[in-house]
Amino acid sequence: MTLKCRECRECNGIACRGEIPGVGGKDTGRSFIRNVEAFRKVRINMDVCAEPGEISTGTKILGVNLSVPVFMAPVAGIRNNYGADIDEYDYNCMMLDGCDLAGIRGFTGDGIDIERLFAVPARAVNDHDGHGIVTIKPWVREGVDARIEILSKLKFDMAAMDIDAAGLPLLRAGKTPVETKTAEELRYIRNRLGKPFIVKGVMTVHAAQTAVEAGCDAIVVSNHGGRVLDDTPGTIEVLPEIAAAVKGKITILLDGGVRTGNDIFKALALGADGVLIGRPLALACVKGGAEGIRTAVEGLQRQLKDTMLMTGCHCIADITAEKVRIVD
Ligand SMILES: Cc1cc2nc3c(=O)[nH]c(=O)nc-3n(C[C@H](O)[C@H](O)[C@H](O)COP(=O)(O)O)c2cc1C
Repeated sequence: MTLKCRECRECNGIACRGEIPGVGGKDTGRSFIRNVEAFRKVRINMDVCAEPGEISTGTKILGVNLSVPVFMAPVAGIRNNYGADIDEYDYNCMMLDGCDLAGIRGFTGDGIDIERLFAVPARAVNDHDGHGIVTIKPWVREGVDARIEILSKLKFDMAAMDIDAAGLPLLRAGKTPVETKTAEELRYIRNRLGKPFIVKGVMTVHAAQTAVEAGCDAIVVSNHGGRVLDDTPGTIEVLPEIAAAVKGKITILLDGGVRTGNDIFKALALGADGVLIGRPLALACVKGGAEGIRTAVEGLQRQLKDTMLMTGCHCIADITAEKVRIVD
């Protein structure tokens, strides 16, 4: 099996820039590259003058207990993008098994082929006792309604919409195209779903406030791993201003460039309640199946725990803004 992913030592978007289909970022790939680089501008304030004691990385997000504040991001089209010889159902089952083993939750994806790219992954969630988050692309009403109809017969924890897929040329050209979303439309979807609803693809205070106004339950500060627009800021760069505006009003998640336990720590310190990880966990799944995900998440948890010890944190709530500094 020759994978399209080059399995770089650090997954930073340089070798694969512009490769879509593939695992790269759009055009020059700068948004993906910047997501990773921006984390290096956040430094951790070491301080071990603290009470010794147990350290826990456990948390509860949107009613779900997690061993560590991490979700597996939606990664659709595993054959097309990774060149992996795995069908969508098998990938999603391995991914969800891995998340169960690791004590985290996974998101499934969506695409034009409603059966293969939406219903099949959603059935994988159903077959895992509903332990998973199904993601719907920002279709016009007809496309959203068709997917909610499929979900009405299935078990799932919560749902998400990657609103930042509104510009994907392939999806805009289809018979049922994608579109940009207003607060009114997001409220309609939230109400029809009747489950926690996560808006993924928020990069401004305005978009975050729109999700709050619509009564959504969470946002993911995300630029789709740099796959939808070149030259955006890194996600960690916009997190502080978004957190200042909406923290306490809505759950805040972040993805894009989260590679280490230290990156998780930095995102939490700057206002996120949890993170999503895309490419590194998708690769761990393609190469090592469910065990691959478990091993990768355990590594992240180990580093997060070490960093909590070195900064005087005993629990996730102790990870606050004064634990980090941002440099130019
Ligand atoms: C191959 C590939 C497919 C993706 N498919 C989806 C998708 O169907 N829905 C979605 O919301 N995001 C999708 N994403 C974006 C991820 O969910 C996530 O936002 C991004 O990968 C996070 O950045 P990271 O890979 O640097 O961790 C995809 C990303 C990749 C690399």
